[in-house]
Amino acid sequence: MTALIDTAARLIALADIRTEEGRCATAILPSWAGRGDHMAEPQASVLRLFENGREIGPAHSLHSDIRGSGGGRYSHWEGMLFFSSSDGTPPASNGRFYQVLTTPPSPSAALQSMILSTSTMAELTDVQQHTILSSAASLIAPGFILPDHGRQLEKDAEFHAAFRRFFPDHSNTMDRKYAVWQMAQLVDRLHGDMAEVGCYTGATSWFMADRIVRSGMPRSLHLFDSFAGLSQPGEKDGDYWQEGVLSAGEDLVRRNLAEFPFVHLHAGWVPDRFPDVDDRRFVLVHIDVDLYQPTKDSTAFFYERLVPGGLMICDDYGFRSCPGATAAFDEVLADKPEPIVNLSTGGAFIIKRPS
Ligand SMILES: C[S@@+](CC[C@H](N)C(=O)[O-])C[C@H]1O[C@@H](n2cnc3c(N)ncnc32)[C@H](O)[C@@H]1O
Repeated sequence: MTALIDTAARLIALADIRTEEGRCATAILPSWAGRGDHMAEPQASVLRLFENGREIGPAHSLHSDIRGSGGGRYSHWEGMLFFSSSDGTPPASNGRFYQVLTTPPSPSAALQSMILSTSTMAELTDVQQHTILSSAASLIAPGFILPDHGRQLEKDAEFHAAFRRFFPDHSNTMDRKYAVWQMAQLVDRLHGDMAEVGCYTGATSWFMADRIVRSGMPRSLHLFDSFAGLSQPGEKDGDYWQEGVLSAGEDLVRRNLAEFPFVHLHAGWVPDRFPDVDDRRFVLVHIDVDLYQPTKDSTAFFYERLVPGGLMICDDYGFRSCPGATAAFDEVLADKPEPIVNLSTGGAFIIKRPS
């Protein structure tokens, strides 16, 4: 058998192997594993099968032959692999490992075939549209996970009306803004202020302020920002960010939040203006400065002033673009009793425990 390997090929370890009938076992393949044989094209698959690292076959075998004779015969039929071991032992329990080598279809070919088989997206149900988009996403970027479809976020008209004021077109940060807006309800009955460190144009601040109004609790929202963009990234920040990006003027933020008289802006580099709120206590703190040093200063300062049950959210936690902010949050909280809880939206938070 040929030993040539296509450079676009991927090796997949088979999991969840089940005995089908006779010597035949089955395993389900991921959708990007390439095209399987099917009625119209019984030899469409280019997949190759390995047992303990040694190639076995032949491919495109009849299923009756795989069941009866085994001997390494296999068939990649649509999304499923039907296969046998080289010596007749059951692949589901013989202790060997099985891998397939396959070349995923190129995104353009796969997308073309989807488009050809679909007259218009509008004719499809929303579930079908989501299925096509998920497949397209995983073909273009294997491993990319599209969020599930039909979430409350999608149909929350109040949220979208407010969100569009800040982002008329689109923003990848929508999920996180929604999470903060929802989580803010958890502190409705606690006494203390709220703060955001790194407010940019004030979008997340708006959602925090909205919760203050809805809760009817008298509290202030303190916003800390340079209003001159990011400070200089340090060694731990990687090379994604540059000094001065994400700069929004103080006047713009004032205008965007004009309806909320309890909002106070503290312009300056973190932590220069923190003494302004030295004696305040906080029920919700949103830290979003992207970099190591200001995240470290903010986490340390506000942790000490967070009331029991209060929430501290680090918007940047865990993102590849923010290794410094992630490290800072980890470092400050390392000797604290609160677990850092990752959010599926990205970011993480803690709930302050009573001391
Ligand atoms: C990602 S933006 C914040 C986005 C905002 N939280 C939102 O949800 O729309 C980061 C903000 O942090 C501010 N910032 C970054 N480094 C800072 C520092 N060292 N001191 C003060 N502000 C800083 C920037 O000016 C920018 O407004």
